[in-house]
Amino acid sequence: MERTLAIIKPDAVAGGHVGAILQRVESGGFALRGMRLVRLTRAEAEGFYAVHRDRPFFDSLTAFMSSGPAIVLALEADDAIRRWRELMGSTDPAKAAPGSLRREFGSSIERNATHGSDAPETAATELGYFFRGVELG
Ligand code: RTP
Ligand code: MG
Repeated sequence: MERTLAIIKPDAVAGGHVGAILQRVESGGFALRGMRLVRLTRAEAEGFYAVHRDRPFFDSLTAFMSSGPAIVLALEADDAIRRWRELMGSTDPAKAAPGSLRREFGSSIERNATHGSDAPETAATELGYFFRGVELG
């Protein structure tokens, strides 16, 4: 079993898509091990996406991620990291596969509805950013 950190981003929360996305989490065979609503400060968004701090979209991305409430999820499944990224689809919703979460709920390459960790090391770091070990089911 593997765990990954998923986020329902502020655009999807504001758009009223939390229930639909959680339904896809459950029907996709992921076990929910942690779930919380957070309102990131700009500094917290900058810390979370620090790996992107030199990219041209960093300011816009961290403003977006701190613009409203988001839902952070700890998901568990076999091959959870790869399978969650597959369910999300490509970063750009226009290029994401039909039926993927980003295609369905995203509106731009930035406002793309969901986040998922991209490797075991980043999953461990990102889970630790939002959850204490004792909080996880
Ligand atoms: P994420 O980390 O959020 O799961 O997304 P990802 O791996 O598919 O994409 P990544 O390259 O890590 O980018 C992180 C987030 O930055 C925003 N982004 N904007 N304007 C742009 O060209 C651009 N590129 C990326 C997106 O919100 C992306 O999810
Ligand atoms: Mg990424």
